[in-house]
Amino acid sequence: MSTAEPNASLNDLISLNGKRALVTGGGKGIGAAIASRLTEAGASVTIADLDPAGADFAADIGARFVQCDIAHAAQLTAAIDDAAGDGNLHILINNAGIFPTTGPVVDVADDFVSRMLEVNVRAQFSATREAARRMSNGGSILNMASIAGLSGGANISAYAASKAAVVSLTHAHARELGPKGIRVNAIAPGVIETPGVAEQMAPLRASGIDIDSRIAANPVGIAGQPDHVARGALFLVSDLASFVSGHVLVIDGGSTA
Ligand SMILES: NC(=O)c1ccc[n+]([C@@H]2O[C@H](COP(=O)([O-])OP(=O)(O)OC[C@H]3O[C@@H](n4cnc5c(N)ncnc54)[C@H](O)[C@@H]3O)[C@@H](O)[C@H]2O)c1
Repeated sequence: MSTAEPNASLNDLISLNGKRALVTGGGKGIGAAIASRLTEAGASVTIADLDPAGADFAADIGARFVQCDIAHAAQLTAAIDDAAGDGNLHILINNAGIFPTTGPVVDVADDFVSRMLEVNVRAQFSATREAARRMSNGGSILNMASIAGLSGGANISAYAASKAAVVSLTHAHARELGPKGIRVNAIAPGVIETPGVAEQMAPLRASGIDIDSRIAANPVGIAGQPDHVARGALFLVSDLASFVSGHVLVIDGGSTA
């Protein structure tokens, strides 16, 4: 039975059997949790990550691994070709992003802003272009935004701007690629406990600040975990969301409610 049928089974709707997926930045953190869930749902997954340590994680979950800087055109193309196999890619998780310690706008250098936009926006744009070229049978693209891209944030303006651009690309590409059978959505996570966030928080933790209470300071009252985001990602890329496109799903324990 086609998953377009109103009475399609839940198993068929959530299954990614036969689907080929690329997860950028999937070696750890949110990307790793998404790669894990996509594999569990039956997808054939390639992880593209700058850090070669991701290869061990990929092997653990039965995914392929390509060491890749998504901002490097040839490396990005090689990763997408690996994921597409015979030439057909079905799912792109545009997750890789950077969030180095920033600071007040009066102290931020041009190079810092350029690098932020290069990785978080330009490289993600390129990944969408290359993936869309290989989605001749339709597909699903999921961009990783942030609540910072919706509401901003003091001392993180370059990051916030990069994620606002991700939201904008999500809307524009959903309109443009929809007629080709490609859905484009985004997730805007709140604070999620990942290696990247742990690195950011280390100096604060060392200075005695109660970081754990701050991270769990949301209406749900728990610290966000990578799998909380991965569950939303699985929904959005699966046929459960076959009529959802151009949507930005906030996953933040209600902190921006
Ligand atoms: N963790 C959070 O609180 C949070 C909140 C909102 C949005 N996000 C977004 O979610 C995404 C993942 O964040 P995370 O917390 O899991 O990060 P993380 O730093 O824990 O993991 C990111 C992974 O991406 C890889 N990566 C970084 N730059 C890359 C590049 N140029 N090419 C290929 N791989 C690269 C890293 O090697 C790493 O394995 C990012 O886009 C981030 O902006 C995170």
